[in-house]
Amino acid sequence: MNVEVEAIRQKVIACTKCDLSKTRTNSVPGKGNFQSDVIFVGEAPGRNEDKKGEPFVGIAGQRLSAALESAGVSRESIYITNVVKCRPPNNRVPTVMERDMCHDYLQKEISIIKPKIICILGNTAFNSILGGSEITKYRGKIVKKDKEFYFLTVHPAATIYNQELITVLKKDIIKLFDLIRELKNGRKIPVDIDYTS
Ligand code: URA
Ligand code: SF4
Repeated sequence: MNVEVEAIRQKVIACTKCDLSKTRTNSVPGKGNFQSDVIFVGEAPGRNEDKKGEPFVGIAGQRLSAALESAGVSRESIYITNVVKCRPPNNRVPTVMERDMCHDYLQKEISIIKPKIICILGNTAFNSILGGSEITKYRGKIVKKDKEFYFLTVHPAATIYNQELITVLKKDIIKLFDLIRELKNGRKIPVDIDYTS
């Protein structure tokens, strides 16, 4: 474990910056390989994550694992986190205030791990990180903002009620890892949208 990642983990576990600390069972810090080329960012923990204190361990997590598997990638080889680290009651979408209060942790995870690309899972992460909306329209695209690259895809939970989306998610994750391989071979990232102001 990297000492800096561990320090954030401990801060998240003890955090009481917003009211979600009052209703959570456990905070859910990011988890995985701190040397990963990619960080996956979801919305917020759900019931199972809140119980276990780990991200993406419920049905959405199974969908994500299946998509990774289709790209030949193990869960352990990547790093997974969320925009908001504590479960919102009844799985409601986290408020702008909650996202703002929690943002510093994600910022730090990114600055320590320095991924080649950040994979945004679904609308809440898209909106929180890039101010975007309509993920289904933009999914599969590569975004550049300031010095970071982002890859957009649907939220794994969205595939539970929509069978077509599991195919979409798998296709996107395969594209993402093809892209990472090309990057490692020195190819420039083919940016679709530049959000740099
Ligand atoms: N959905 C998310 O956005 N994150 C999790 O960790 C689990 C479900
Ligand atoms: Fe702290 Fe984030 Fe949890 Fe709020 S959601 S208590 S800011 S860790």
